[in-house]
Amino acid sequence: MAQNWTPASWRQKPIQQVPDYPDQAALEATEGQLATYPPLVFAGEARNLKKALANVSEGRGFLLQGGDCAESFAEHGADTIRDFFRAFLQMAVVLTFGAQQPVVKVGRIAGQFAKPRSSNIERQGEIELPSYRGDIINGIEFTEKARIPDPERQINAYRQSAATLNLLRAFAMGGYANLDNVHQWMLGFVKDSPQAERYRKLADRISETMDFMKAIGITPETNPSLRETDFFTSHEALLLGYEQALTRIDSTSGDWYATSGHMIWIGDRTRQPDHAHVEYCRGIKNPIGLKCGPSMTADGLIELIDILNPANEAGRLTLICRFGHDKVAEHLPRLIRAVQREGKKVVWSCDPMHGNTITLNSYKTRPFERILSEVESFFQIHRSEGSHPGGIHIEMTGKDVTECTGGARALSGADLGDRYHTHCDPRLNADQALELAFLLAERMKGGRDEKRLAAAG
Ligand code: PEP
Ligand code: CO
Repeated sequence: MAQNWTPASWRQKPIQQVPDYPDQAALEATEGQLATYPPLVFAGEARNLKKALANVSEGRGFLLQGGDCAESFAEHGADTIRDFFRAFLQMAVVLTFGAQQPVVKVGRIAGQFAKPRSSNIERQGEIELPSYRGDIINGIEFTEKARIPDPERQINAYRQSAATLNLLRAFAMGGYANLDNVHQWMLGFVKDSPQAERYRKLADRISETMDFMKAIGITPETNPSLRETDFFTSHEALLLGYEQALTRIDSTSGDWYATSGHMIWIGDRTRQPDHAHVEYCRGIKNPIGLKCGPSMTADGLIELIDILNPANEAGRLTLICRFGHDKVAEHLPRLIRAVQREGKKVVWSCDPMHGNTITLNSYKTRPFERILSEVESFFQIHRSEGSHPGGIHIEMTGKDVTECTGGARALSGADLGDRYHTHCDPRLNADQALELAFLLAERMKGGRDEKRLAAAG
């Protein structure tokens, strides 16, 4: 067990991004109540995810992590969850084919409610109010009342997470995730895409593979792994009082686990090695993500790895790199080299969203070309450094929103106002997310063909 650690030891450390609750007694009462509620996930599931990520860190798998920037109470409905899951599974199938490796599926869902903010204050015209910090903390409406942190929201977030997780488990295990279904949805996407010609080649090869498997008797009816899927949940562990209330001892191993989600991550703004968020995360046994932005130094990274993964266990730590399309070449190689020099076991994942946000027609947006460009550079850099590009981390939705520009339908700045629904950062819509998967799969396949040719001499 981590030395001098308890689920509450973070309270003795400096902390960033902490909400200003006006009623401390009410906050404590809520945390006490949450501590009596059932865990949302089991330690055994978190261990399974860690094993799957250990394979990724050793070059035998690919991590697909994605979902909302911020889940909202208002958009909690079966359709939203279903549409997300449907888009996500299609991406996973396309990437499985591209990578020819298992894809580990982790949603930013069922707990992704708390948001770090660059400023404590939001100004509109002459009025200044405390910033929105996610539905688990305060309301998005620009009124004084809505912006007051309300502990009761933590109970709502817990209940919404439980309901979401319940539906996701049903989708994953109850037949909906059947490979035949996912394949049909994918063919529908390709048929309707303005880039149909480009994607059809890869889609046809997937279809042929499925026909071949059917011919030799491998079907969803005969093979459970084709009709069920493993799906895990994750969120940023920002609101530590909530996390602490859901931190439980696993009776099998005697270890502490965060039971709010299978994987949790530390944000780019709260990764100070001697501060509260790192303190909390070092003591729990779940797989942990660590966001790495341009200000991460090589020494700083090694220091954090030593704190968060002292036993150098494979699968424990995922480095989620978010530099920006124009900065990745400057920052990623030095971090890869430091990790290689020190022999640290990590999963390298690329978040091509958070370094590529711009403002256009007063909307926060992200150009699809820049997102693609950052992922492509990430792959290329790993190839030249001899490390494994282990995954991607994206903000996406299953809905047809207009939040990121570009993509096959060439969304422009003028389109952003049509269906801009995000509660925080701009997300890829379902088509853009799938396009990204197709373009990456093509590139992965290209890389493998090159290797095979080189090996054949
Ligand atoms: C996020 O993932 O929504 C986020 C705030 O990321 P970062 O900490 O990398 O800025
Ligand atoms: Co975000």
